[in-house]
Amino acid sequence: MYQSGKFQPWVVLMRVGRVAACALWWVAGSVSAQSTDAQARLKESATNPALAQTLATLGRKAAAVCANCHGEGGTSALPTVPNLAAQNPAYLLEQMGQFADGRRKNEFMQGMIKAMKVDERAGVAMYYGAQKLALPVPVHSPLVDQGKALYARNCFRCHGTDGLGSEAFARIAGQQAGYVTQTLKRYRTGSGPRVNELMAANTKQLSDGDIQALAAYLASLR
Ligand code: HEC
Ligand code: HEC
Repeated sequence: MYQSGKFQPWVVLMRVGRVAACALWWVAGSVSAQSTDAQARLKESATNPALAQTLATLGRKAAAVCANCHGEGGTSALPTVPNLAAQNPAYLLEQMGQFADGRRKNEFMQGMIKAMKVDERAGVAMYYGAQKLALPVPVHSPLVDQGKALYARNCFRCHGTDGLGSEAFARIAGQQAGYVTQTLKRYRTGSGPRVNELMAANTKQLSDGDIQALAAYLASLR
């Protein structure tokens, strides 16, 4: 029977649980709101030169940290770290949002992106979108030709005939082969650090050899 004044641990637990759930909901909400806001700020900067200037300055500053892994100007020197140079800014912001709210799982990236302000996120996406990829002259091989044939079956529908992507889809031309291999295998698994329905459907037929060929082909595109 309920007696007021008596310590009731389950009531306390329920209350704590509810508060924690609310806090989580609030944090998740504000984090994804931040990435939506960053997209809006980026759009606004197209018609607001003063804002574009502010974002450019913030972006260049923030990129000094990113350069440690993503390379100077966003061309990565590490095979499993993606290039950010010449990537579509809207896609970059979408992925930063996914890291921040944990849909795309990487603890380091999550902590870093969560610590960035809305305008820093918008600025850094704008900065990388404006950089050129600084890659060596590509090497052609039978593996590259095999990847080209696989690409032409399907991938071009979303990523474009040259892999340059669009507002909605990632640029994958020139992307690091090791990173592409790892990413396609993750999508194919359909669970784990990176999940996407469209990409799960488009990778489930691929063998490891197909993935290796696709990665070689994409890395050879400029
Ligand atoms: C310590 C190394 C490190 C630093 C510093 C770093 N990143 Fe990353 N970043 C990674 C790795 C590794 C991945 C790939 C993660 C994965 O797919 O699991 C990644 C992925 C990304 C992606 C996804 C790219 C894509 O093609 O999907 C974005 C966007 C990104 N980082 C932005 C940034 C920004 C902006 C900064 C600086 C503020 C930054 N990163 C700093 C290691 C780093
Ligand atoms: C129906 C549209 C569609 C098709 C077809 C498609 N993709 Fe994708 N792809 C996407 C979307 C959407 C994403 C971003 C998903 C996310 O947020 O993780 C993506 C992401 C990727 C990425 C990660 C890019 C990065 O920078 O991390 C790679 C690599 C990729 N796709 C390669 C391919 C290849 C190779 C094929 C063909 C076998 C293909 N895609 C077919 C829609 C598509």
